[in-house]
Amino acid sequence: MRVQVCIIGGGPSGLLLSHILHRAGIDTVILERRSRAHVLGRIRAGVLEQGTVETLRAHGLGDRMDAEGFPHSGTYVAARNRGFRVDFERLTGKRVMVYGQTEVTADLYAARDADSGRIVDEAEGVTIHDAGGRPHVTYRKDGAEHRIDCDWIAGCDGFHGVSRATIPADVLRTVERVYPFGWLGVLSRTKPAAHELIYANNSRGFALASMRNEGLSRYYIQAPVDDPLEKWTDAAFWDELRRRLPSDVAETMETGPSIEKSIAPLRSFVAEPMRWNRLFLVGDAAHIVPPTGAKGLNLAVADVRYLSEALIAHYAGDDSGVDGYSDRALARVWKATRFSWWFTTLMHRFPEDGTFGTRMKEAEIDYLEGSEAAQAAMAENYVGLPY
Ligand code: FAD
Ligand code: DHB
Repeated sequence: MRVQVCIIGGGPSGLLLSHILHRAGIDTVILERRSRAHVLGRIRAGVLEQGTVETLRAHGLGDRMDAEGFPHSGTYVAARNRGFRVDFERLTGKRVMVYGQTEVTADLYAARDADSGRIVDEAEGVTIHDAGGRPHVTYRKDGAEHRIDCDWIAGCDGFHGVSRATIPADVLRTVERVYPFGWLGVLSRTKPAAHELIYANNSRGFALASMRNEGLSRYYIQAPVDDPLEKWTDAAFWDELRRRLPSDVAETMETGPSIEKSIAPLRSFVAEPMRWNRLFLVGDAAHIVPPTGAKGLNLAVADVRYLSEALIAHYAGDDSGVDGYSDRALARVWKATRFSWWFTTLMHRFPEDGTFGTRMKEAEIDYLEGSEAAQAAMAENYVGLPY
């Protein structure tokens, strides 16, 4: 088979890239290692930047999001048993949208199916060949070997994919910080604790109260990454969460059985460059941010936006976009990496904090509460920097 762009990975990056390129008349195929049910069952991000929302709308993907998503014009930050609100809309003129990654992915699959887009699921042994010459990709499906020849390969295969590993070690530079804790996340069919998100710094560790809709809540607490999940019974989770949220919220919060529970590690990671010959890296394949501040999915959408513009221009005879893709994407990636690192550091307890470190974080949260300038800087990053 021959296509113009072979896309590895059918997560949000790969699906969105395929959808946008298809609408511009560019031919793609997606190779996804897992089953569709598995990809659609993953519970991940929940907050979309305004630019992400506009990108989805611009490509005909906004209808269900606009009907079922929840625009939020601010968020609460809490510490030492009290909270304050950062008003994004007043400070930046922008809002964010609470609409789960699971729903975005479902909408993307529906759109690709409606356009008869080619998605090969359960593709095994995906391998990239000759990215510097005549690029092609091989894989196995149902025991048979397949080969796809293409002009370009888009590595949208997440942190553990094959694309980044294809780039020679003397070309690829990586920077990484692994944080000394994880996030224990719970999804439950309960009324959200508040009408907006609450990010809480507490002496027992960070907590986040989030949501998916009026009847579905998403909560996270900072926890040791190697804690066995069995230790975190629902009762243990709710007790710990209540201790970390401001008491007025904790006292009125609805609790119930968890319908999903998992622990995720936190890391900052950037791989440079994001293009090697005819191979591009997109989304989590190139960079990971800790989830505080909800930047992971939004960065992936920004990469897709840049790459789709570049490829569309390439087929119209202009290569400046493909040549500039890596620098353009990385300029945004580093800023989001900084913001996610800053907000993670501010809101979590680290083993090395000591009294001085703790007092500095408390003082910075006090400063954030009292300073319009500090809130504006946070809000500008949270709602998403301009493309
Ligand atoms: P992915 O969603 O990882 O998709 C990559 C796809 O490639 C997957 O479907 C995978 O199966 C496929 N693949 C991998 N290897 C191969 C291969 N060899 N061959 C073929 N296909 C392959 N972000 C937030 O903003 N907030 C959150 O709360 C949040 N929580 C998260 C929780 C977890 C457990 C994880 C892993 C991520 C979380 N993120 C969160 C980050 C966010 O979900 C990602 O940034 C986003 O999914 C990136 O999309 P992507 O398409 O680039 O990568
Ligand atoms: C969610 C996740 C985040 O990382 C975040 O900063 C806000 C919300 C969520 O899953 O709802």
